[in-house]
Amino acid sequence: MTDSATLIHPMQLGGLSLPHNLALAPMHKRTNLAFRLMARRWGAAFTYTEMAVPEDLLDGRRHRGGNRRRGGRLLASTPEDRPLGVQILPVHAGPLVEAIAMIAETGAGDLIDLNFACPSKKVAGIGVGAAFLRKPEAAVDLVKAAVAASRLPVTLKMRYGYTDAADDRRRALDLARAAVAAGAAAITLHARSAVQGYDERAAWERIAEWVEALAPVPVFGSGDLATPEAIMEMLRATGAAGVSIARGSVGAPWIFRQTLDLAATGAYQPVTPAERGRVFLEHFEALLAAVGEADAVRFLCHTGRMYAVDIPAAREAQAAIYKARSRDALYRVAAQYFGPGL
Ligand SMILES: Cc1cc2nc3c(=O)[nH]c(=O)nc-3n(C[C@H](O)[C@H](O)[C@H](O)COP(=O)(O)O)c2cc1C
Repeated sequence: MTDSATLIHPMQLGGLSLPHNLALAPMHKRTNLAFRLMARRWGAAFTYTEMAVPEDLLDGRRHRGGNRRRGGRLLASTPEDRPLGVQILPVHAGPLVEAIAMIAETGAGDLIDLNFACPSKKVAGIGVGAAFLRKPEAAVDLVKAAVAASRLPVTLKMRYGYTDAADDRRRALDLARAAVAAGAAAITLHARSAVQGYDERAAWERIAEWVEALAPVPVFGSGDLATPEAIMEMLRATGAAGVSIARGSVGAPWIFRQTLDLAATGAYQPVTPAERGRVFLEHFEALLAAVGEADAVRFLCHTGRMYAVDIPAAREAQAAIYKARSRDALYRVAAQYFGPGL
């Protein structure tokens, strides 16, 4: 056992037991059932749905069976897809409480995660998501309503501030403190300000600050976890209780297994081009079963390109995946670029 092995450990969030502390982060249009199941097969301890407003989740319940509807798809799950956090983008307390009651009643998830982190124009621009970082009282009211309504653990996804300014940082940390006092079971901190979006370097030192300020409530770190080495380094450098792995897993769901191996043995197996191709097709088949050929192809022509890295002719392969319009075309691309036998 390496020293690093102690950084990976089982966890308890309220009544929920997690086998270890490597989570698949919520990602809009990425972390659907097909991808969550793949991440789990490669070792993710738990996963989240992509964010959804309560109204869409409730719509899914009303139209259950008609699972081509957005809400039905958002909550689509299977017994293997557990433990599962349902991520909600709260707007008003009423629908939030109704959605939480529905999730508990139908067993649709094991944890409720509230998104106070999304900076996009469609979200923060209309006063929700990361916009709540500047309205801490309103956000705390939502957390209190959620905790009171939920017998499942309630957690928060946050940025460390709306901007990097000291008063924005203080407001965000005060919100996290108040949420914890109101009964939040954990906080995931995406270590960028909302205005930084996704591309600037994540400030892991903020995670270390929040770990200390919120102890003993667990803080999960998020941001720039692109490799198994980075994941272990974040755990080591920040003292975070766990990590929430986002873009590092897109086109690379094996990152969980590689990280577990790195922690346990100090090394991990790189994936071969043929394995990349195999997992790419596995992802396609899972999507095909869930949403049909047209939607599965449309979905993978974007994210599927992420599998085509570290292979010969990667750029050509990415372009060919982008252009593919059918199952047959995707299989031809896989055989041509990822190696024989696919
Ligand atoms: C395409 C995409 C979609 C995302 N959707 C969500 C979301 O629905 N909910 C959420 O809390 N965070 C979302 N995030 C943020 C990620 O969970 C994560 O915090 C962020 O990408 C930082 O981690 P990384 O730098 O390792 O990718 C999304 C990120 C990406 C790239």
